[in-house]
Amino acid sequence: MKLTSKEALKMLEEARITALNDHWIDHSICVGNTAATIADALNLDVDYVKTLGYIHDIGKSIGEFSSHVMNGYNYLKELGYDEKYYNICLTHSYLNNDVLCTAGGIPTDIPFRTNFIKNHEYTVCEKIINLCDLMCTNKVMTVDKRLIDIMTRRGAYKNTQYHIKETYKLKKYFDDLLGYDLYDLFPEIKENL
Ligand SMILES: [Fe+2]
Repeated sequence: MKLTSKEALKMLEEARITALNDHWIDHSICVGNTAATIADALNLDVDYVKTLGYIHDIGKSIGEFSSHVMNGYNYLKELGYDEKYYNICLTHSYLNNDVLCTAGGIPTDIPFRTNFIKNHEYTVCEKIINLCDLMCTNKVMTVDKRLIDIMTRRGAYKNTQYHIKETYKLKKYFDDLLGYDLYDLFPEIKENL
């Protein structure tokens, strides 16, 4: 079943009603809107990419934030949405096809997740969400600022350097695809330095 950005936004606003902490909802909206701008610049399906941004953290509406990846994946799958939507709940936190390439520490080993990430061929649309998750709090900013935001809140671990290096590779991947600095798409970044 298809999911539109309008429906995904409705899902977020419904989650806001009962959420104890709705920061992740504003963050998800920022990720979706930022991702849509990049998708538009690359002539990709803007509404699809925006939808992925809106739903990537939907697992945070269900249980423990630390389990949001699997919770979101199972939730959207059980609702009957197509794979290309619920996969984003799994892929968004991990770079370089590696569950160790993530922020906030070494993840617990969930064999299904580890294998999925290792074998999944990330689409450009999924990579946009990876990057936008690393450019957005509730507003868009440079990856530098966002990485520091994450580190100051969640700490630095033995995989942090690896994750930072891969984040910069991902940013360069999109600079190269666009043929210019991706930050040029977001003049408001200057106000958020
Ligand atoms: Fe996120």
